[in-house]
Amino acid sequence: MNTRIANVLFQQLRSYSYKTVKRVTLPPASKLEIPESNGTKNFSLQNELKARIVASGPIPVASYMRHVLTNPSAGYYMTNDDVFGSKGDFITSPEIGQIFGEMVAVWCLNELYKFGGPVPFQLVELGPGRGTMMSDILRVFGSLKATAGLTVHLVEISDHLSKVQADLLCRSSTEHNDKPFYRSGFTGNGIKVHWYRHLEDVPQVFSIVLAHEFFDALPIHKFQKEGDCWKEVLIDIDPHDKKKFRFVVSKSETPMLRLFLNNYPEIATDRNHVEISFESEALIRQIAERFHANGGLGLIVDYGHLGEKNDTFRAFKNHKLHDPLVDPGCADLTADVDFSILNHFCERTSQVFTIGPTTQRSFLEMAGAKDRLEVLLTRAKSEEEKHRLTEGFRMLTEENQMGSRFKFLGLYPSELRQFFTKQD
Ligand SMILES: C[S@@+](CC[C@H](N)C(=O)[O-])C[C@H]1O[C@@H](n2cnc3c(N)ncnc32)[C@H](O)[C@@H]1O
Repeated sequence: MNTRIANVLFQQLRSYSYKTVKRVTLPPASKLEIPESNGTKNFSLQNELKARIVASGPIPVASYMRHVLTNPSAGYYMTNDDVFGSKGDFITSPEIGQIFGEMVAVWCLNELYKFGGPVPFQLVELGPGRGTMMSDILRVFGSLKATAGLTVHLVEISDHLSKVQADLLCRSSTEHNDKPFYRSGFTGNGIKVHWYRHLEDVPQVFSIVLAHEFFDALPIHKFQKEGDCWKEVLIDIDPHDKKKFRFVVSKSETPMLRLFLNNYPEIATDRNHVEISFESEALIRQIAERFHANGGLGLIVDYGHLGEKNDTFRAFKNHKLHDPLVDPGCADLTADVDFSILNHFCERTSQVFTIGPTTQRSFLEMAGAKDRLEVLLTRAKSEEEKHRLTEGFRMLTEENQMGSRFKFLGLYPSELRQFFTKQD
């Protein structure tokens, strides 16, 4: 990041006296009733998966993941009330402390000024969860009077979560079924917000695209080498216990395995086990085309690695690891983002280049998170609040916590490559 601009922005940011934000407690939303059966919470999802396997044989991990997370009537994100936070299954950085979203806002503004402050412009967030990060970002944009020409576009597959986001971000919101967006509303200071199911429906305008813990939720295909031969890992019904699923390997080359071997022979040569998300690839291609046509920049933040890990598909329930093949729909399914493969995807488009990934710790440090913490501490009204702020900061930045596990990858239009120096 250009540290001079970041410092100027940060001076402005700290001089505004907006208050420490108390995290909202989610109001209970309507819950879809799913009948309990055989001790399995999401019986219909399990039966549907089994029916598919019986009909056409073992399914790719990506099909299982897509179905379990986003099946319209029973998917994990579509029906569960509050999966985020201490009472849910996992906690994300924006939910830990306002500093996180504020520093992402500082980055956005810093980068936007490099582009000469284009107007109109839009903030696009993929998978906004409770809407907390966008709320923190918009507060900073509002405080710094940087909202002229701004509209907000949220890509959220879950109607239920879109309502949660709207309750946080907007005074009220309206549902639509005759427009590219399915919900819209206005923030307290008059910024228009739209909700979409797909990125391709978002208007073609200069965009800052943000994705926090989104790519890890996209379905992955798993491939592994047996001897000299690549196989796809599939999911089948366990023949010893028909209530369970198990992993098997494909007997022959599957269509997606062929795609992988044709398109990414260099990855196939270097590794023995790969998790690859073709949905992520399609999304990167769309983002790249958007930046090429209308200008824009992106920030992908997620837990991940640079190709050194190979088997990261797992589930979380109540903040604990859970068997991803047991009781589908009751736990979050995820796989670490392989940033080296994301980089490959970007390179293949030739329309975007990337900077990073850098660690969460160094991103937050460069954006001025420590100074911001000090300001918040001086304004804290109680020892308890100070403790919460300090602990949150520690969790976000410490190497053995989220500081190094989470990575930030910047995406820019290729045309700008020559203007970026190493220090940016
Ligand atoms: C792990 S949560 C992250 C939430 C938020 N970004 C955060 O960090 O707190 C994943 C989010 O992406 C949404 N999501 C998952 N798959 C999606 C898809 N295919 N299209 C759009 N949204 C999706 C989920 O509903 C949820 O809002």
